[in-house]
Amino acid sequence: MKIAIIGSGGREHAICHKIFESKNVEKIFCIPGNGGTQKIAQNVNINLDNFEEIKSFLNYENVDLTIIGPEQPLVNGIVDYLRKNRLKVFGPDKFCSKLEGSKIFTKKICKIEKIPTANFQIFNDINSSLKYLKNKNYPLVVKADGLAAGKGVYICGNFLDAQKAVEEIFGGKFGKAEEILIEDFLSGEEMSFFILYDNNTFQVFNTAQDHKRVFDGDKGKNTGGMGAYSPSRLITDELEKKIINKIISPTLKYLKKENGIYIGFLYAGLMIKDNEPYLIEYNVRMGDPECQTILPLLKNDFLEILKNCIDGTLNKIKLNWKNKKSICIVLASKGYPDQFEKNILINNLENTTNIEDQYIFHAGTKFEKRKFFSNGGRVLNFVSINENLKLARESALSIIKIINWQNGHYRRDIGYKVIDN
Ligand code: AMP
Ligand code: GLY
Repeated sequence: MKIAIIGSGGREHAICHKIFESKNVEKIFCIPGNGGTQKIAQNVNINLDNFEEIKSFLNYENVDLTIIGPEQPLVNGIVDYLRKNRLKVFGPDKFCSKLEGSKIFTKKICKIEKIPTANFQIFNDINSSLKYLKNKNYPLVVKADGLAAGKGVYICGNFLDAQKAVEEIFGGKFGKAEEILIEDFLSGEEMSFFILYDNNTFQVFNTAQDHKRVFDGDKGKNTGGMGAYSPSRLITDELEKKIINKIISPTLKYLKKENGIYIGFLYAGLMIKDNEPYLIEYNVRMGDPECQTILPLLKNDFLEILKNCIDGTLNKIKLNWKNKKSICIVLASKGYPDQFEKNILINNLENTTNIEDQYIFHAGTKFEKRKFFSNGGRVLNFVSINENLKLARESALSIIKIINWQNGHYRRDIGYKVIDN
């Protein structure tokens, strides 16, 4: 089969690598891909907003299956467009992608289907928002409705923080804002929970714990994710049942009722408190870096799974996972998530290949004149799987030391809540 993967991050390299291992793969295209994917696939430089050009390319190359990695093209409706043109696509349609594209859409479903989530209010101007905020207890959470690359969420410790958030959001910091979401602060521990869905049946696709803050000890600014481990320390059969019954099944029932077509990964960002799950948000794709840490644990032929999803026969697949722990540490450019330099040479990558249970997934890299250069904030992902997380982390860190990239920054404490130091 000929496969195309849309996207250019660590998630997409991990997907590409897993598909490359499949017995039925003939050729992989990555649109646009990165320095890592070009080793096992053909990178194709097409702007992800240009659906028509993507469609023409897929038709020209007779691509059998296209996988959409990131949220933006999903929210923009790429799946509907390609499907209308008789292409086979792995990803939810535009309607279902509103689960991530509009936090208010998701909250309204929670209300209709009685899904546990933080209590919330929706406002459509600054004055009514501020009036509400004046009489509340803090912390409170103020959110922009649409996609904001993780930056549209404000955890507010007092009224002044909340006022700033409301003014920034209505001021257009994340695009034109007609509504705003204000919700109660949930305490507890977060968990990323994944399912695969073929629009008929779903299967749990493991769990992970992301580390969003830039510095050790969960200090500093929020990032796209500085590392993750899998499975989450919180998951038990009992909790999984609750998540499915109280959150996942009612959501899928709602989407079905509204005639949405969901073929893809669904990622529930959850808060777990006293062994009870609360939905914080949905993402309509795999997480990054969760994908990099979860996929190496999968024993199945990944392409066969995706094909069964497209054919509506996911129920024929039995997922098998390695009985090991996995950790992913992100090497970012110094300065990320603020200003950082690009085009910095990365040496030593070729010294680290073929070590068992070790994976290096590229994110912001490019390959030019036979050398790798940085090309983004999150640059490389170091994944290691092992009997326990402590060993996995030690071995991922040892590879980062071999690379010894002077422009890099990484966390040394990924998994600190589960690993005794
Ligand atoms: P989101 O983009 O909605 O996942 O929010 C980003 C991060 O903000 C989450 O991963 C949580 O750490 C935090 N967050 C969002 N909503 C809440 C809430 N209601 N209570 C506590 N933390 C929250
Ligand atoms: N790791 C968080 C995300 O993918 O949104």
